[in-house]
This record gives sequence, structure tokens and C-alpha cells, in this order.
Amino acid sequence: MKKLQICAPGRINLIGEHLDYNHGIVLPAAIDRHFEFDFEQTTSPSIRIEALDLNESWHFEFAELNELQTNGWRSYVKGVFLLLFEDYFFTKIPFDPNSSSISRFSLDGLHIRFKSTIPIGAGLSSSAALCCGLVFGLNECFNLGKTRFELALIAQQTEHQYAGVKCGLMDQVASLFGKQNELIAFDCLDQKITTFTLPLNGVQLFLLDSKVKHNLAESAYNERRAQLEAAWGKAREVFGSLESWRAINEKQLALLFSHLDLSAQKRLRYVIDEIARVAKFQALALEISEKVKNSVSPMEAYLELGMLLNATHEGLRDLYEVSCAEIDFLQAELIEKPEILGARMMGGGFGGCLLVLAKNNFIPNKELTELLTNYSLKFGSEASCHPVRIAEGVHIVIND
Ligand code: GLA
Repeated sequence: MKKLQICAPGRINLIGEHLDYNHGIVLPAAIDRHFEFDFEQTTSPSIRIEALDLNESWHFEFAELNELQTNGWRSYVKGVFLLLFEDYFFTKIPFDPNSSSISRFSLDGLHIRFKSTIPIGAGLSSSAALCCGLVFGLNECFNLGKTRFELALIAQQTEHQYAGVKCGLMDQVASLFGKQNELIAFDCLDQKITTFTLPLNGVQLFLLDSKVKHNLAESAYNERRAQLEAAWGKAREVFGSLESWRAINEKQLALLFSHLDLSAQKRLRYVIDEIARVAKFQALALEISEKVKNSVSPMEAYLELGMLLNATHEGLRDLYEVSCAEIDFLQAELIEKPEILGARMMGGGFGGCLLVLAKNNFIPNKELTELLTNYSLKFGSEASCHPVRIAEGVHIVIND
């Protein structure tokens, strides 16, 4: 019996929030929270998928999948299968699942089990990791030969078409291209992916999970995207040859603002400022690496990094308007502490985790006890802290 085990991580994003669909560069990384998938060939005549954490399982015949009604994790599974095997489902090209040239496994007898250590709705891209792990595993099982980038696009389309979220490509790129101890710079214009290191000397990163998820998240995300696309349409009308938001100057921006309503002006102001913050972050990361190499203290530069994180939070809260009271409370309290260099909400918004940069002498759980107690008294929700490590992207754990 053939067996394949895949690990598919979630992600953090250092900076460049909501820039992956706004012509920006984003700086995410895969983390040590992941999905684990087991693929096994069986003699049963159907595909059987078990979501071990939920104690749920699903059987289906490959040929009938397109007709099945789904929700929750089943919709992601359905999306990944249909988009990966679209020739079979949508163009009616005869597809022979047992053809030895493309198939290691028989499609008729596949047993997939998965479980996850990524908290759902925490802004750590649990759904992207689910899709990336599944599509990567199926690509291996059937020797389909798709590149990681093609798999990222299928995982993204699954979110668009089967979950109704018009997300960018950052989460999928982070999960599939992550490198241990390295950050990714994903240029969302030319789709170039590079990695770089940010030494953490005397500082640490941790996550503070607010444990809230407001159901606004998906609709508001799509709304923001539509607003910015409309603003871009207007910019093209006004300036003709403008290449991207990265190329607009303040004079042009002022002129464009006169064509936009107040809400669109605020959204765009955030995007332009965040593009500038990413550039500063990249320069600071280089400076820190140099200083560490030359044994010079990089603390000043970390202070500046922290300020960038805080400024991103303010922009997301006041201009992009995707934060929420719980997250704002935690962020405001955190940054009052002398050992905290910076903190911001992370991901799509309306709940989830804060990313925190702190000095090394700060012990997340111990020093935060009072804040966590006040938080639960005020909001009735139990926040929790998690150290976070930068890990390898989607990879094979067992293949035999
Ligand atoms: C969600 C989306 C990403 C990205 C972030 C915000 O995680 O899936 O594509 O837009 O929000 O940066």
C-alpha cells in the first residue's frame, strides 16, 4: 500500500497587509502551525476523507463530485478536486484515472486523513494551508507535474470560487514557498518570490490570539477589494499610463482623491502608506542583518520596525477599517509596555491574532496575565499567547 504524508503550514505576515491585491510587496512567512495530510491507496471503490479534529468524514465517487452540495471544509476539498482535475470535470476530455502515465494511485480508492494545529479564524490562513496541502498531495499522488506556483493559483481559486472570498495570493505563496527561518518577499505585481532573513537578536515575535472572529470578515474583505479596484479604474481613467499604485505620487493622489468618495480616499491612503512602510521594513531588515554581522547592536532598528508595525495597525484601524474593538484594546494596552516594540492586527481583519515584536526579556504569558484577565472581563473572550517560529513551506514528510 502506498502512503504519502504532507505537512502544510499556516503563515504570519510581517508587513504589507491587504497589499497582495493592491500592487504591493508583502513579507509573509510560513510558521510552525500546520495541517498534516495522510494519503493512502485503498481497495474501497470511493474517495474517503476524514477531518480528524472534527471527527467528520466524507465519502464520494470521483465522477459525482461536481453535483454534490457542500459547506465548510468539504467546499474547499470539492474546489481543490474540481480545479485540479478541471479537464475531467469541465472540458469532458476523457480522463483515465488508472492510466499509469499520470497515476500513482487509483482515483477510485483513495483515503485522505487530515488534522491541523492552526487555530481556525485566527488570521493564520488555515483555509489556505488546507487547500495548499491537499492540492500539493494530490499533485504528488497523480504525478500531475504542476509547479508550486500553479498549485498556489488553484488553492487561491478554490477560495474565490468555492468559499466566496476574493483573496490575494499571499497566503498560498507563504504556505507553498516558505523557508525555515526566512521571510518571503512576494512582489504581487511581477509575482517574483524571494526570501531574506531578519535576525532576531535580543527580540522575539509572538502572537496574541484575540479568539474573536466577526462574521463581517468575508463580506468586508470583498468590499475593500471592490473599492480599490474601482479606485484603480478611476486612476487609469485620470492618468492613462499609471503602472500601479506604487508609481503614484502625492500630487497625482490629491487629484485622484477629488474623484473619490471619502471612504475610498481613506482606503487608498492606507494602501499608499503601507506600500511605503514595506519599503522601509525591507531597508531596516538589511540594516539589521549588517549590524548583526558586524556585532553592532541593532536595537535602534528594531525600535523603528516596531513603530512601522504600530503605524500599520493604525492604518488598518482608522483608514482601511478592518480592525475591531477587541483587537484595538489589546494592541493599545500592549504598546504601553516598555518591552513591547510594536504590535498590530494581522491578516484579513475583524478578529484573529495580533503580531507582537517584543524584547527578549518579555515573557508573554507571565507579563500579560493582567491584560488577559482585563480582556476577558471586558469582552468575555479568552485571549492567548503563542510563540511563533518560521518554518518550512509545504513539504513531504513520508513517501513510501
Ligand atoms: C487574507 C487574504 C490574503 C491577504 C490578507 C490581508 O489573509 O487571504 O490574501 O489579502 O487577508 O493582507
